[in-house]
Amino acid sequence: MSVATSVEKEIEKLRDEIRYHEHRYYVLNDPEISDFEFDKLMRRLQELERQRPELMTPDSPTQRVGGQPAEEFPKVRHAVPMLSLDNTYSVEELEDFDRRVRELSGRSKVEYVGELKLDGLSMALTYEYGVLTHSVTRGDGTQGEDVTANVKTIRSVPLRLEAKKLDALFGGHAHPKRFEVRGEVIMSRAAFEQLNAQREAAGEPKFANPRNSAAGTMRLLDPKLVAERRLDMYLYQVLVNGGAPLPEHWQVFEGLAKAGFKVNPHRRLCRSFDEVLGFIQEWEAKRDSLDYEIDGIVVKVNDTRLWDELGRTAKSPRWAIAFKYPARQATTVVKDIRVQVGRTGTLTPVADLEPVDVGGVTVSHATLHNMDEIERLGVKIGDSVLIQRAGEVIPQVVKVVEPAPDGREFHIPKKCPVCGGEVFRAEGEVAYRCVNAACPAKLKESLLHFSRRRAMNIDGLGEALVDQLVDKGMVRDVADLYSLTRDQLANLERMGDKSASNLREEIENSKQADLARVIFALGIPFVGERTAQLLAEHFGSLDKLASARQELEEVFEVGPKVSESIARFFREKRNQEVLAKLREAGVRFERKKAASRGPRPLEGKQFVLTGTLPNYSRDEVQRMIEEAGGRVTGSVSKKTDYVVVGREPGSKLEKARSLGVKTINGDELLKLLK
Ligand code: IVH
Repeated sequence: MSVATSVEKEIEKLRDEIRYHEHRYYVLNDPEISDFEFDKLMRRLQELERQRPELMTPDSPTQRVGGQPAEEFPKVRHAVPMLSLDNTYSVEELEDFDRRVRELSGRSKVEYVGELKLDGLSMALTYEYGVLTHSVTRGDGTQGEDVTANVKTIRSVPLRLEAKKLDALFGGHAHPKRFEVRGEVIMSRAAFEQLNAQREAAGEPKFANPRNSAAGTMRLLDPKLVAERRLDMYLYQVLVNGGAPLPEHWQVFEGLAKAGFKVNPHRRLCRSFDEVLGFIQEWEAKRDSLDYEIDGIVVKVNDTRLWDELGRTAKSPRWAIAFKYPARQATTVVKDIRVQVGRTGTLTPVADLEPVDVGGVTVSHATLHNMDEIERLGVKIGDSVLIQRAGEVIPQVVKVVEPAPDGREFHIPKKCPVCGGEVFRAEGEVAYRCVNAACPAKLKESLLHFSRRRAMNIDGLGEALVDQLVDKGMVRDVADLYSLTRDQLANLERMGDKSASNLREEIENSKQADLARVIFALGIPFVGERTAQLLAEHFGSLDKLASARQELEEVFEVGPKVSESIARFFREKRNQEVLAKLREAGVRFERKKAASRGPRPLEGKQFVLTGTLPNYSRDEVQRMIEEAGGRVTGSVSKKTDYVVVGREPGSKLEKARSLGVKTINGDELLKLLK
């Protein structure tokens, strides 16, 4: 037996460390080290693997994104067909399901597991000797496509499982040489929004919803592009020799979690049918609080030994059923179609609707995305259309229900409705844009973006004010905000002395914003919040970022498209002038040093959030806590100092109570932050 050299040992150690931190970050949402430290480990491993290519293995964490784009995806037959689920919208049919299960199994009472029905695409992963070897789409249920290279880019999916992990999955029994895990590939709403914003900036057609966007991403032939898209995967089934490995489905979930797979935390072991109904009702009310879309609840018989006994129909198993929430759709009339001009000059057609109630919310506008979409839908002014609301996203037009006999066709205006500038559509682009670099619409949107809470956080600079500042010529770029005097502000409409002073102070305070926020606030195409954070951590100063070329691509997750966009931004003379003005004004161009940070009253404290807080998004609350020195983790443990409880809290509240962890509400949190 050969003795491992020190390089081999270092490589193994690095891989283990990286796997551990990937799991903490992507599966548990509870990182222990910063992105920067993580990148350092990754780069060291890449360097060693470059030096010693013979030590490279396909399951190394560096191999998540690799290889050449595929020509096509090979077709693969599923060893066990991937069935679909029977759907129902009614409690009566659900009761029928329960009755049938009890009759067929001869039991008077059956336990069920309630799970969220994730709106994504199902995927079967095969592991051989603990290593991920195949990932196949559902396809027609019998045969799917092998998209392994794409699935490997999903950071929460383990590329290999060591023996200890396999023990957990198989309850200490002998490990099968080969097994399959199945689950759902999804895209979070946040990732979807970011992707669509990027597509809009690039003049590409936007995706209609996170599901389509996840499916579209999986069909990309180049894994490098997939890696930029932030997909995620939740697992819910294990198959060994065609069957479940453990007697209870509930245990399978626990095994999957212990083995390092991402499983959805919102599941319930229901001892009675009434508990199933309770679970369904609970999530109908809470579904909007999730960062991904669900379209119902899946109910499965917990006893997996009954699965065979109950069998299946042609298409679906008799041991599971999907209860679908009613679609939030409604029919209404398109009164008009107009265009909105975005920050990047893109013209987006928007339908003005006869107001209509959709699942408790009055909807009077819906996006039509772009001209291609209008043509696809064939929608004209006056038509009756079906509209749909999903989560927080802007309502969309699904289809024309009844064309108006005298429907008016919509044409994209030849001149920008805001500045009268020329409208044009570049070769190969879907979007029409206003070409005028000084279009006030762009400036207005840029100012709103700049002052957003998650950017420079200038509270009080809303649309009405931005309109006045731009229309009166008081502000010609974002840097002009810093030279506005209190008196100038006080002279604006609907501004009193007090609010002018407050706004002046907000603008002044924003100069202290952290570098990551400044980078994000600049509105560089393709640079979202997370990329801004990575860039700030990597470069440490705006000047270093501005002069970086080669080094840009070294930042993890910054692909060629993004780095090109950053380089282009800083090359642009207009932007250089704005940056010079910002520097002059005293905006921070360096990362804050720990010592020079503001007061950190929550230093060392660990928080867990559950439920929604009025006025603040989850990300905002997390940011506020982190800026005050605290940490937000995903699960409650004895180490947790506070659980912040909002509206409709989840199981974390019960956990906190059982562990005796202190719980506080939003107001109490704000007090701590002061
Ligand atoms: S179980 C035979 N569990 O719904 C069991 N499916 O209509 C089939 N889905 O193709 C899958 N969340 O894509 C199961 N918690 C969940 C699910 C789920 C979403 C999807 C899956 C499946 C479809 C069935």
